[in-house]
Amino acid sequence: MSASKRAAGRRAADVVETGQDVGLGTGSTVFFALERLGERIRDEGLVIRGVPTSVDTETKAREFGIPLATLDEVERFDVTIDGADEIDGDYAMIKGGGGALLREKVVAAATEHMVVVVGPEKVVGTLGTTFDLPVEVVPFARAAVERGIRALGGAPKLRGAEGASYLTDNGNQILDVHFESGISDAAQLELALDAIPGVVESGLFINLARTLVIGHDDGSADLRNKGA
Ligand code: 5RP
Repeated sequence: MSASKRAAGRRAADVVETGQDVGLGTGSTVFFALERLGERIRDEGLVIRGVPTSVDTETKAREFGIPLATLDEVERFDVTIDGADEIDGDYAMIKGGGGALLREKVVAAATEHMVVVVGPEKVVGTLGTTFDLPVEVVPFARAAVERGIRALGGAPKLRGAEGASYLTDNGNQILDVHFESGISDAAQLELALDAIPGVVESGLFINLARTLVIGHDDGSADLRNKGA
């Protein structure tokens, strides 16, 4: 498992070129991209600015010696490297298993070339069949949002224990939403979720990824471009 993550993360880091502004995603696969970027900065003199999508990534990027900037300083990202919990044949994704979906989507939406790093088990025919959809919600509105999600056919579950729920880097809660038969129309569901007051963001990422890097346990990685 971690050999495939390592292969994917490191292969994606080799896409980055000197002078680029790079969105730094979150998760255990991205970790290996950060590690490789740090090596390239040290060994090749690669010059980049990275914007982290979570406190966790910020900490790791600093440890690897990646120069950081803020979203105030970077208008467009040349490349963003991020993981996924599921990705389908159109490169639509479920993200947010690590709870960083809001910042990840803000950065992805400002990115020219989004590179997604996964192991083969993340590639699915229909979204929502192997992973519940994370939805970030304002704590005040959580019960109302749960009702709205049930009306859309989803079964929401609060992440973490009741009374001590998981909080995102933005101080919000996450509802992990199960759809019994998966998600048949991700674009329509994204719009419907966004229309519920109190929903901050959903983990549906549609028409954002351009390149998919699938790592394998033998240490190899396949790089595929959308539509190619
Ligand atoms: C975090 C994410 C991660 O990219 C996703 O959960 C994949 O993580 P990992 O590479 O650890 O499997 O969306 O919010």
